[in-house]
Amino acid sequence: MKESVVLQTSIPGLKLWRRGKVRDVYDLGDKLLFVATDRISAFDSILPTGIPGKGRVLTQLSAFWFARMLKITPHHLISTSLPAELSAHKDTLEGRSMVVMKTEPVAFECVVRGYLAGSGWEDYKKTGAVCGIALPKGLQQSQELEKPIFTPATKAETGHDINVSFEVMANGSGGVGQKLAETLRDRSIAIYTEARAYARTRGILLADTKFEWGIRDGKPILIDECLTPDSSRFWPADGYRVGISPPSFDKQFVRDWLISSGWDRNPPAPPLPSEVVERTAARYREALERLSAETRRAP
Ligand SMILES: Nc1ncnc2c1ncn2[C@@H]1O[C@H](COP(=O)(O)OP(=O)(O)OP(=O)(O)O)[C@@H](O)[C@H]1O
Ligand SMILES: [Mg+2]
Repeated sequence: MKESVVLQTSIPGLKLWRRGKVRDVYDLGDKLLFVATDRISAFDSILPTGIPGKGRVLTQLSAFWFARMLKITPHHLISTSLPAELSAHKDTLEGRSMVVMKTEPVAFECVVRGYLAGSGWEDYKKTGAVCGIALPKGLQQSQELEKPIFTPATKAETGHDINVSFEVMANGSGGVGQKLAETLRDRSIAIYTEARAYARTRGILLADTKFEWGIRDGKPILIDECLTPDSSRFWPADGYRVGISPPSFDKQFVRDWLISSGWDRNPPAPPLPSEVVERTAARYREALERLSAETRRAP
């Protein structure tokens, strides 16, 4: 059966807490119902076409990683089972929802990079540094860094996030203070390092990733999604080479098609052709399978 696409949810009797680019989040009092839809965004626009099954992949992969990372940090996930009182909405919500603890989100995105890619590579070409962290001369695009680096960004209300230095995150205006900034940096790097080592065993390179943190009872916990193709750059190891931008497990087909369509990047974005939708859906499914499927035992 072909999976249907969930572009937007509306649950009578539940209060919508916020609608993000991908998630519909409902207020459950002290908790949140965190629903990953099949929406996809590219170039800062939400596209009119969804990717069937994408929300389920994001939810299942996040849950997989939250459990694995518990030894490093507490997180917001309480349950991926749908609360019994929502069973009437099973078709829409099951598999794509998490009940999570409501927190006060930290206003900085915690990015960790192990390779020189994306905005990190752009920054390095211009300044020889990434977010103020000086790097050796002569590095090439997509090259692995000697040590993973922490490059926070501010969550912009609209448009691109803005990269900032650790100093700004800690002590700038709106900064979180030295102690919390250090805790979030150290934990983010520890999770990245652990996930990268694991992903390698599955033939996937984790180039970089973004974590979000929230404060609950005065303590930081890991929130939002975790180590998904939307929040991370995953490269199939066999397509990796230094000096190029290797293919990744995310919106590559979508971005390539949007560029070739001649769209001027002002909303609204054009609808995606079905071939691009199907290839993208398959890519997300493959990321989930490769990372989280049990390894098969020899017969
Ligand atoms: N446990 C939590 N407590 C409070 N807020 C959370 C929690 N987990 C995630 N969030 C917030 O819920 C939203 C998730 O929605 P989604 O990922 O679709 O948004 P987004 O478009 O990425 O984010 P934004 O609109 O903030 O840029 C994010 O704003 C995220 O910071
Ligand atoms: Mg998000």
